[in-house]
Amino acid sequence: VRSHRVFAAIYEHLLAANEDAGLRELRAGLLRSARGRTLEIGAGTGLNLAHYTHEVTELVLTEPDPAMAKRLRARLDGDASLAPAGAKVHEAAAEALPFPESSFDTVVTTLVLCSVHDPEAALAEVARVLKPGGDLLFAEHVRDADGSRRARWQARLDRPWSACMGGCHPGRETDRLIDARFVVHERRAAEFPGPGTALVKPLVSGVARLPA
Ligand SMILES: C[S@@+](CC[C@H](N)C(=O)[O-])C[C@H]1O[C@@H](n2cnc3c(N)ncnc32)[C@H](O)[C@@H]1O
Repeated sequence: VRSHRVFAAIYEHLLAANEDAGLRELRAGLLRSARGRTLEIGAGTGLNLAHYTHEVTELVLTEPDPAMAKRLRARLDGDASLAPAGAKVHEAAAEALPFPESSFDTVVTTLVLCSVHDPEAALAEVARVLKPGGDLLFAEHVRDADGSRRARWQARLDRPWSACMGGCHPGRETDRLIDARFVVHERRAAEFPGPGTALVKPLVSGVARLPA
């Protein structure tokens, strides 16, 4: 994964108004369900860290972009209360997780599957490392409905958007990819809150499990 130094430096400024407009609340609502040994994929600068509860017994974070990982480590070092049980950062890509199979109770992805190189391979890795009965907690923006004006713009502006936004693809059908591999128990369809989100409006979040 390439280092996106500028994107990493401005990421939290770019999202600040969106966090205030409801993204922070969405993160908190989702992460309340994290429990046990928990893996967060593509943790970025660590905007989810404040929302994990004491139900999380061990927190493992992956962040393959060195510029993001540096900020993530700085955030953890700067505030011991963020991960009272400690948190380990691995600079690993989602497509090749350096963890044994069935080793996590919870896996978290927020605004990540839009940016990974191969989302299907990433979800296969999530399925591999989740324990049977474990939960994938996700919040991802997705492609708008077929034939919609926004879906057309998501396709048209994919390249320039991706170049400016750290490799994010605005029109990925991430919800369909999750449905193809997991059973979604809780699904909330929302709108990406706040400004600057014309291309990434439809947002799905929820809890998914491996089929029994
Ligand atoms: C939009 S940011 C989201 C950061 C964080 N999850 C959040 O909710 O704020 C996308 C993140 O995905 C990471 N990423 C990109 N490619 C990845 C990959 N192949 N595997 C794991 N993470 C990746 C990026 O480095 C970046 O930190």
